[in-house]
Amino acid sequence: KIYSASTTAPVNIATLKYWGKRDTTLNLPTNSSISVTLSQDDLRTLTTASCSKSFTEDTLWLNGSKEDITGSKRLLACFRELRELRRGVEAADSAALPMSEFKLHLVSENNFPTAAGLASSAAGLAALVRAIADLYELPQDATELSKIARQGSGSACRSLFGGYVAWEMGSSPDGSDSKAVQIAPVEHWPEMRACILVVSADKKDTSSTAGMQVTVNTSPLFAHRINNVVPQRFELMKKSILDRDFAQFAQLTMQDSNSFHAVCLDSTPPIFYMNDISRAAIRAVDEINRLAGQTVAAYTFDAGPNAVIYYLKENAQVVLGPLKAALKSQDGWASASAIKPEVPTS
Ligand code: DP6
Repeated sequence: KIYSASTTAPVNIATLKYWGKRDTTLNLPTNSSISVTLSQDDLRTLTTASCSKSFTEDTLWLNGSKEDITGSKRLLACFRELRELRRGVEAADSAALPMSEFKLHLVSENNFPTAAGLASSAAGLAALVRAIADLYELPQDATELSKIARQGSGSACRSLFGGYVAWEMGSSPDGSDSKAVQIAPVEHWPEMRACILVVSADKKDTSSTAGMQVTVNTSPLFAHRINNVVPQRFELMKKSILDRDFAQFAQLTMQDSNSFHAVCLDSTPPIFYMNDISRAAIRAVDEINRLAGQTVAAYTFDAGPNAVIYYLKENAQVVLGPLKAALKSQDGWASASAIKPEVPTS
């Protein structure tokens, strides 16, 4: 007999970036971060977790192809921790099946390009942890599970929540206080929208995992960012969300994207994620805000050239109209014209 559970997890896009690990084994960050979880209608991972006495090895199929997971320490850490929690369930209930002894089969599908800087690892690892937790009928809440997802991929811990989410870096060496919490549910600020400019769906050059440690080890600017910039920004951004102060939220989001790409450029060798089209998007957003006479749009870029633009529903025309126009007049924009309005969801 095969036991299964399926679940989906959404993508989240950081507005205050996680960039740097203080512990690469437990995946503990050098700073706290904040994100908005996007709607699952367009971007999500669907994962089915199965286990059976008859399975002979843990296996993962990602978008139809079987992955070699034997060397994936981070994935194996997630399996180990989830099995540990399952043993708790089995110990408490003698009728519970010994699923912790069974091998796992995982089938995971993204409905968007993998590793193109579209936060696929976040949705992927969050869905994987959730699916296994459901299969195992674990009683742990999303914050507890976020500590496991974090070990699979840092940003994944934030995808266990909808709405506005903080990953609190914590200070404990064992990672027990490095976890995701919800700042506010999507209903708190339902007018928020995000659109994604898919500049390129190619696999990114430098993975975030590798890139961030190059920055930690080589960038003189990095210490300034994590000590003097991000802690204050974290508090201000949380407040801007709680106050629904879009102008403040947007300014902080843009500043933090620029700060993150600045420490990338300050690394040796320098890391470039944005390209000419990305920079044209920045100029277009600046121009839109200037013409509006107030901040109506915010750009942010992760470890790739694709832009995510946050705006409020009431400003959709003011923002998307000129953005589409700028897309057309820009060389290379034509191939980059996938604009997807996204609604953050819980
Ligand atoms: C730029 O979560 O992909 O998107 O923990 O090594 O898996 P690992 O890194 P990952 O890094 C995400 C970096 C970022 C910023 C963010 O999402 O906060």
